[in-house]
Amino acid sequence: MTIREAKFLTSNTRVDQCPAPTLPEYAFIGRSNVGKSSLINMLTGQKGLAKTSSLPGKTQLINHFLINNEWYLVDLPGYGYAKVSKESRAQWAKMINYYMSKRENLSCVFVLIDSRHEPLAPDLEFMEKLGSEGVPFVIVFTKTDKLSGSRTQQNIVSYAAKLQETWDEIPRYFITSAETKLGREELLGFIDEINQQ
Ligand code: GTP
Ligand code: MG
Repeated sequence: MTIREAKFLTSNTRVDQCPAPTLPEYAFIGRSNVGKSSLINMLTGQKGLAKTSSLPGKTQLINHFLINNEWYLVDLPGYGYAKVSKESRAQWAKMINYYMSKRENLSCVFVLIDSRHEPLAPDLEFMEKLGSEGVPFVIVFTKTDKLSGSRTQQNIVSYAAKLQETWDEIPRYFITSAETKLGREELLGFIDEINQQ
C-alpha cells in the first residue's frame, strides 16, 4: 500500500469525542517507550507526525491520524509506566480499556512488544483481555535493530513458546524496526488486506 496522505486529526480522552467511527481503525498499544509513536511515523513516512520521546510517558491521549482519507491510525498512551502517579495510571488504564471495548470501528489492535524483553505479565494479560473481549489483535515486535538477527529469532521463539501456554493458536506477529523500516511493507499489506474485507 502507498501512503499518499497522513494527517493528525484529534487528541481525546473520551471515546465519544473521537472522530465518527465511519472508517476502519488500527490502534497501537503497548508498554510506555516500546515504540508506538515511532512505528506510526515509520509506517506513514512522516518523522514528526506522532510525538516521540526517549522518556516514557510521552503519549497521554487517544490520538487519531487519518490515512489516505480511508482509514485511521491511533496512537495511545503506554501502560506500565511507573513514574506517573497511581491516579494518572489508573485514569489511563480506564481510558484505554474503555476505548478497546467501545470503539466499534476498531479493525485490529497492534500490541507492541520490545523484542529485547522476555514475556512480561502486563502484556500477556492485556492480550488475554483482548482475546476474551473478542477484539482482533496482532503482535508487533519492535526495536529489532538493537539485536542481532539470530538473537531476535531466539527471543521470538521463546515468546511464542510462552504464548502457547495460553493460546491454542499463537496470535499473528510482525517483526519490525522503526529505525531500519523492517516490517513496513508487511504491516501495510496486512492493513490493506483487512481494509479490503
Ligand atoms: P510512550 O508514548 O511514552 O508510551 O512511548 P512510545 O511507545 O510511543 O515510544 P516512542 O515511539 O516515543 O519511542 C521511545 C524511544 O524508543 C524513542 O527514543 C525512540 O527513538 C526509540 N525507538 C522507538 N522505536 C525504535 C526502533 O525501532 N529502534 C530504535 N533503535 N529505537 C527506537
Ligand atoms: Mg508514544
